[in-house]
Amino acid sequence: MRSHDCQVWKTSMRSLAIASIFTFALIGYAHAQTDLQPTMDHKMHMAAMANDSRQLLDFPPPMKAHMLSNMRDHLQVISEVVDAISKAQFGKAAKIAGDRLGLDSPAAEGCKAPAGTSQPQMSTPGSMEQMMAQFMPEGMRNIGYSMHSAASDFATAASEAAKTGDSKAALAALSRVTQQCVACHSVYRLQ
Ligand code: HEC
Repeated sequence: MRSHDCQVWKTSMRSLAIASIFTFALIGYAHAQTDLQPTMDHKMHMAAMANDSRQLLDFPPPMKAHMLSNMRDHLQVISEVVDAISKAQFGKAAKIAGDRLGLDSPAAEGCKAPAGTSQPQMSTPGSMEQMMAQFMPEGMRNIGYSMHSAASDFATAASEAAKTGDSKAALAALSRVTQQCVACHSVYRLQ
């Protein structure tokens, strides 16, 4: 190999090496972007891999923890309500459901449509519930709203049962509450 050819060879190898570094850096960057902001395709792919077709929610960890804590209280409410009904304490059942699960309960704030922008804005001051309302997909928020609204309807029916002693309508109303729990759990997941 003549020295000129050798020079050309060295130069082209160097260009190849530099190009490779750039390519790998770009692939790495693109991958990091995908990890930071999972696209719907990515989420569907991950769900399919876990053999779970529910939609994965992309919530920041403190919001996840807050939501799961709300959820455990929701189950606690259902448990206390069923217990009260079994003892014919309909007024008590109405109060528990109204205060902790109804539309006027603090937990319901997270399922009311956010005022103003529909974009998540972590910098906007507000309660965790208000931030949750911004992060939740609209379909999920609607199911959540229906659940809280059904809980208010149950409270009304249970108050009525306290007067009449007839729990049939209250039980039907309670079933409409738990149907919404099931509806949401069958579509969304946090992990
Ligand atoms: C609008 C949607 C929605 C509604 C309505 C809803 N949940 Fe959930 N809940 C979720 C999601 C999402 C999870 C996380 C599930 C997962 O990642 O597999 C969850 C998790 C839970 C958990 C697990 C908590 C933990 O610590 O792991 C319980 C218990 C629960 N929900 C109870 C209820 C009950 C009871 C109701 C009805 C009174 C209810 N949820 C209504 C969305 C909902």
